Amino acid sequence: MRRYLFHVCLLVMILIAGETRSLADVAGSGGLRVTHGPYLQQPGPDSMTVVWFTNKNCFSWVEYGTGENFRTFPKWGSLPRTAVSSRHGLIQANTTRHVVTLSGLEPGRTYPYRVVSREILQFEPYEVIYGDTVVGGIHRFHTLDPKKTETSFHVFQDIHGDAELLSGMLDGISWDKAGLVFFNGDTLSHLESEEGIFNGFLDAGVHGFAREIPFVYVRGNHDTRGILARRLPDYFPPRNGRYYYALDDGPVHFIILDSGEDKPDDAPVYAGLADFDSYRERQAEWLRAEIESEAFREAAFRVVIFHIPPFGRGHGAQEVTRLWNPILEQGEVDLVICGHLHRFSRIDPEPGRHGFPIVVGPARGRVRGDVSGELLTLTVRDAEGKEMDRLLIKSRRRPFPD
Ligand SMILES: [Fe+2]
Repeated sequence: MRRYLFHVCLLVMILIAGETRSLADVAGSGGLRVTHGPYLQQPGPDSMTVVWFTNKNCFSWVEYGTGENFRTFPKWGSLPRTAVSSRHGLIQANTTRHVVTLSGLEPGRTYPYRVVSREILQFEPYEVIYGDTVVGGIHRFHTLDPKKTETSFHVFQDIHGDAELLSGMLDGISWDKAGLVFFNGDTLSHLESEEGIFNGFLDAGVHGFAREIPFVYVRGNHDTRGILARRLPDYFPPRNGRYYYALDDGPVHFIILDSGEDKPDDAPVYAGLADFDSYRERQAEWLRAEIESEAFREAAFRVVIFHIPPFGRGHGAQEVTRLWNPILEQGEVDLVICGHLHRFSRIDPEPGRHGFPIVVGPARGRVRGDVSGELLTLTVRDAEGKEMDRLLIKSRRRPFPD
């Protein structure tokens, strides 16, 4: 009996020690901290990318489980899976920015996850010395599900680094059923520093939703400016390395395009460093093939999102109109959502010009799409949440996906 009690006491002491260590890790006893994030990028039916930042150089990984073992994850006794970022045989290390893609996931499932970063005190060719470890809190995400019949999406545009405005708008949102959030361009006025990205919108987004709902960074003309603009994919990695692509969430086939700069490439302000005319033409080529794809043709709704609207003056607008509108028309898309003008407007279908409605979201406001069965309801609200417009679109193809 005495021996039995001894073993029980020993086990309890081990458990307490384990818990104490775990709590110390969360605090980061050596001053190691997760400074920004995590936030979700590159959503897919079988993958998700997690991005976060630490205040010291680290080697990092993501621990994740499935919805089934959420009650035990991450305590000992369960075995969470881990994912690291590995390229060319090397695991990403000795950095403060951590980008890890979880792959091999199942569509439409919930995955709890947490980020873990281990400080690297010394990084020499034949000796790496690790230091403290910080463990993030547990969050969860849903993989995209092409088979679900209901979903919601949210679109913000022209935030221009006004994190306070964004926070206010995020506070008023009901996130139920939300699958995706789109920042439809000019989210920042220019990209000059990491702090500008964090303070301009990212921290507000993380606090509001982005730890559990992925966002899609759509490029606007201002997002091409500043010394960090060429490193935008390091922070907001797009699908397949491009800022134009398609993705499916439930009955909606989204097409994301990059409308580029608003002025001609030879405008003096670009100093000879812009090449958007050929870039928009390449996207037109891609779009021509995209509207022939099975995913596009089979989708109950075809929703196209890009920054500069396909009408009006200005070189960028004229090029977008000339190059993309005929293809979108041919593809019989259901809706185009843009920004750039800062004022809300809705251009209803015009015979001979475009057979789809164009909604331009307001800078101080938000757009929400709710899809249920054969109906897409698009609601535009101002920054205070007051409804400005409501548009009902019925699927022209089929009531429900199989
Ligand atoms: Fe713009």
